[in-house]
Amino acid sequence: MSNPLSFSLSVSSRAITRAVTRATALAAVLLVAPACTLSQPAGDNGMTLATDEATLKRGRILFLQCQACHSLGDGEAHRVGPNLHGLFGRKAASQPGFGYSEAMQQSGIVWDAAQLNEFLTMPSAKVPGTIMAFAGVAKDSDRMALLSYLRSQTNP
Ligand code: HEC
Repeated sequence: MSNPLSFSLSVSSRAITRAVTRATALAAVLLVAPACTLSQPAGDNGMTLATDEATLKRGRILFLQCQACHSLGDGEAHRVGPNLHGLFGRKAASQPGFGYSEAMQQSGIVWDAAQLNEFLTMPSAKVPGTIMAFAGVAKDSDRMALLSYLRSQTNP
């Protein structure tokens, strides 16, 4: 059943499929690559958070330095700082019943891993005038572990 016409047809449709796949991959690279490089001023944007037990445990220990001021669970009381439930994807200064600074209210930030990473590096640099009295977490890997833990607890 080697009809030469059907053979050439199937070859060309495979060639077309391959060309389309390549074009799609190329388009994806062209779209994604500039977005990544543009959003990388702090060197750590577009970060990938971890879900493995060791990192989450490390994050839990790092969170001890935040714990006096922040609760994480749904509906838990604000402390010196606001409750952080549902943090990822939420607008800054949007927890009801907490008295945020003018600076935080005007920041226009929507919290995601990259924004939180910048904020926690040095809160007073990311949001000048913030009333969060905390110097920052200097080490990249510490912030990654801390944010991995935060996400696991606030947006489970
Ligand atoms: C001494 C108390 C204190 C400590 C310690 C502290 N925070 Fe805060 N945090 C605050 C206060 C107060 C605010 C509100 C800031 C404002 O309105 O300018 C805040 C705001 C925030 C926000 C923004 C919340 C929102 O609803 O927009 C995040 C996120 C945050 N803190 C995370 C952390 C993390 C993570 C740590 C530990 C590495 C930490 N904070 C340590 C007091 C603290």
